[in-house]
Amino acid sequence: MYIVFEGIDGAGKSTQIQMLREWLEANGFRVETLVEPTDSKIGKLIREMLQRPDATTESVQRMLGLLFAADRLLLMDKLEDDSKIFISDRSFISSLAYQEPAEWIDEINRYAKKPDLLILLDLDVKTSVARASGEDTFENEEFLTRVKANYLKLAENYTHEIIDADRGVNKVSSDIKKAVAPYLGICPDCIL
Ligand code: TYD
Repeated sequence: MYIVFEGIDGAGKSTQIQMLREWLEANGFRVETLVEPTDSKIGKLIREMLQRPDATTESVQRMLGLLFAADRLLLMDKLEDDSKIFISDRSFISSLAYQEPAEWIDEINRYAKKPDLLILLDLDVKTSVARASGEDTFENEEFLTRVKANYLKLAENYTHEIIDADRGVNKVSSDIKKAVAPYLGICPDCIL
């Protein structure tokens, strides 16, 4: 099973993925976590490019679109292993939400695996900007407002759960567990 976490910057994806992982392992599942951008050379180049002041311009966005698409191809073979649950911090759905134009992004991500379950951590844009590291050019209100709207539309195309991420870490984590449990045959009353 391939579970993908998406959401605007600062939604708490990495913390929540860690908590979900520990809970699934306690329930006897084998779990592997993945992160995009990866720690490959392409991933490192992406992180450098994200700090450019012109990262939101059309040409840099196109270049980033290609780099993100190339970077995630490195993860795809791994996902063939069906003895594990894979939980990924971002996927090609990030590219569809952050980069443009949609048809082209779709095309260059043709070989990216579609998630079995998308968990969208939905966060208020103002909270996102306040929580952001301030390092990336994408972390501004106008841009993230567009990304958030894109996410809500994109989610409709996949089996998805939208989680309100504007609350405490433990509340968000328990909502995620409740949302994931039925897909894995875990008894809802057994959730701590
Ligand atoms: P993020 O996971 O937020 O990294 P960090 O934990 O270092 O903040 O990803 C970095 C940025 O890259 C984030 O602003 C979202 C953006 N991004 C895209 O624009 N397109 C993509 O396809 C991916 C995977 C990420």
